Amino acid sequence: VSARFQTAVCDLLGIEHPILQSGMGRIAGPELVAKVCNAGGLGILAGLHLPPAELRRQIAQVRALTERPFGVNLWLHEALQPPTPVATLDERELAAVQAVLNRFRERLGAPAVHARPAPVPDLIDEAFEVILEERVPVFSVGLGDPERERSDRCHERGIRVIAMAATVADAKILEASGVDAIVAQGAEAGGHRSTWIKPATRDAACIGTIALVPQVVDSVRVPVIAAGGIVDGRGLVAALALGAQAVMLGTRFVATQESMAPAFFKQALLERNSDQTLVTDVYTGLYARGLRNRFAEEYEASRTGVLPPLVQSNAAQDVYAAALRKGDGDYYPMLAGQACGSIADTPSAADVVRAIMAEAERVRA
Ligand SMILES: Cc1cc2nc3c(=O)[nH]c(=O)nc-3n(C[C@H](O)[C@H](O)[C@H](O)COP(=O)(O)O)c2cc1C
Repeated sequence: VSARFQTAVCDLLGIEHPILQSGMGRIAGPELVAKVCNAGGLGILAGLHLPPAELRRQIAQVRALTERPFGVNLWLHEALQPPTPVATLDERELAAVQAVLNRFRERLGAPAVHARPAPVPDLIDEAFEVILEERVPVFSVGLGDPERERSDRCHERGIRVIAMAATVADAKILEASGVDAIVAQGAEAGGHRSTWIKPATRDAACIGTIALVPQVVDSVRVPVIAAGGIVDGRGLVAALALGAQAVMLGTRFVATQESMAPAFFKQALLERNSDQTLVTDVYTGLYARGLRNRFAEEYEASRTGVLPPLVQSNAAQDVYAAALRKGDGDYYPMLAGQACGSIADTPSAADVVRAIMAEAERVRA
């Protein structure tokens, strides 16, 4: 592969190819991350909800598998910072949510629940200290603003900071916080919409990648990484044409051998078309794009509200666990983007990186 895809982001992050694999909770573990790094991209470990000792152990595992730079992703959303609003939950709201979830529990053979969900664990500060102590090469932020202080503390240790925004206004805030590069997340993207305050509607902060990326490029001085709907070399070349200096892929890497996604999730990605995703807050209380399933459709149809951000996912945790045990994708959040319709195989993550670069070479020949 020639050096013509070597961009400023490659130099910044110390990588060969301008391809980043996004941190994805319960999907991007050490094996996936190291595979992407060894193939010349940047693998990013999912740090969300990991207790500090476990995060440290997984960082060590990545280091045992690759000598190349890698990233660790955290959400910095306000919902993860105390106080969690569990004690003050409205009894009627909670009863309504549990009534919907109990329908699902019954079908899964799980016991009914009426109790308050567990509070959201307060792990962010400790996880961030682990990232600093371990001098992780790249700190990747989703759903949050690291603010000047966190960026400075990373830079003092030679850690690069990248953060994800879904609007031009948020991209400017991240730039003012001193991040080294901004991920512009288009509406096509799988997973949560990257905002740090829950938007009023599911359509807010949902701008298509092709509209968003050039606007962000024109609005900030730091390099921009395009995310949302990109799965192949055509997508990479298109993103570069829009002014991005790299791409970040999530959905494509879910359907790889090294991904920790359950088999039914990978299989669903092969089968689903691009019109079978939706943006909904019923899974976690925050808006996220995932594959349509009975959980989302029946919950939405019930017109029941959702509990506060991440309290909703805590309430449904036992439903997801039961669905996982049964291999039942109808009651498990399968977060994925609109590009799912382009995914037809489950290769090694290294082959994904190689195929994207080979195709990009041909497209730009
Ligand atoms: C299953 C899944 C889990 C995700 N989890 C995270 C996460 O924990 N942190 C984060 O910053 N982004 C997360 N993302 C979003 C990605 O960073 C990125 O915006 C998105 O995957 C890009 O769009 P694509 O899915 O079309 O490639 C996740 C995406 C998916 C599909």
